[in-house]
Amino acid sequence: MRDSLFYRQPEFEIVPMVSDHCRAVAELHAQRFPRAWGDGEFLSLLLQPNTFGFAAWQTNTLIFKSPLNGFVLAREVAGEAEILTIAVGEKVGRFGLGWRLMQAAIREAKSRGGEAMFLEVDDGNAPALGLYRKLGFEKAGERPAYYTDENGRRTSALVMRRDLR
Ligand SMILES: CC(C)(COP(=O)(O)OP(=O)(O)OC[C@H]1O[C@@H](n2cnc3c(N)ncnc32)[C@H](O)[C@@H]1OP(=O)(O)O)[C@@H](O)C(=O)NCCC(=O)NCCS
Repeated sequence: MRDSLFYRQPEFEIVPMVSDHCRAVAELHAQRFPRAWGDGEFLSLLLQPNTFGFAAWQTNTLIFKSPLNGFVLAREVAGEAEILTIAVGEKVGRFGLGWRLMQAAIREAKSRGGEAMFLEVDDGNAPALGLYRKLGFEKAGERPAYYTDENGRRTSALVMRRDLR
């Protein structure tokens, strides 16, 4: 598909997440994670003063209303920032959108006084681990048998950290 003559390279804009985005964010989250969060959960998180997010919309789509292509939600409290969740649409994976969303979250966390950023990731999630390592995150801890996958297997959660200074 991406090699087709008629294929159009998508272009995206990354904008601060606002309340109106929460429904689309919840829908994309439900597509990418086994345990869905409701749009009300996103809204109540976003309304907290320490929480912020970014949404990625395609700018060169032919359809009237572009679907949401990615989002990140994060928090910064007393110098410690945390990625709460991040996802990119399956069809636009590996276009650099995860990288751009993380860069936006890192910039915002720094501007709020963040000195370090933390996140938690399933140790079997190769795309996410690849992204975080490329951004300079390193393992800071491990929670063994923390997640259960769709086959009932238990996998560990890695806690990763990156300096923001
Ligand atoms: C993790 C996720 C956000 C990555 O988004 P993305 O837009 O595809 O990532 P990018 O295109 O910015 O890739 C940046 C780097 O991440 C790594 N990466 C991304 N996809 C990868 C894959 N399928 N396999 C291995 N590494 C991958 C690579 O290092 C890549 O750099 P490169 O393309 O120069 O090699 C996306 O796969 C996703 O939404 N997954 C489902 C939800 C999820 O697991 N979220 C994280 C929970 S902790």
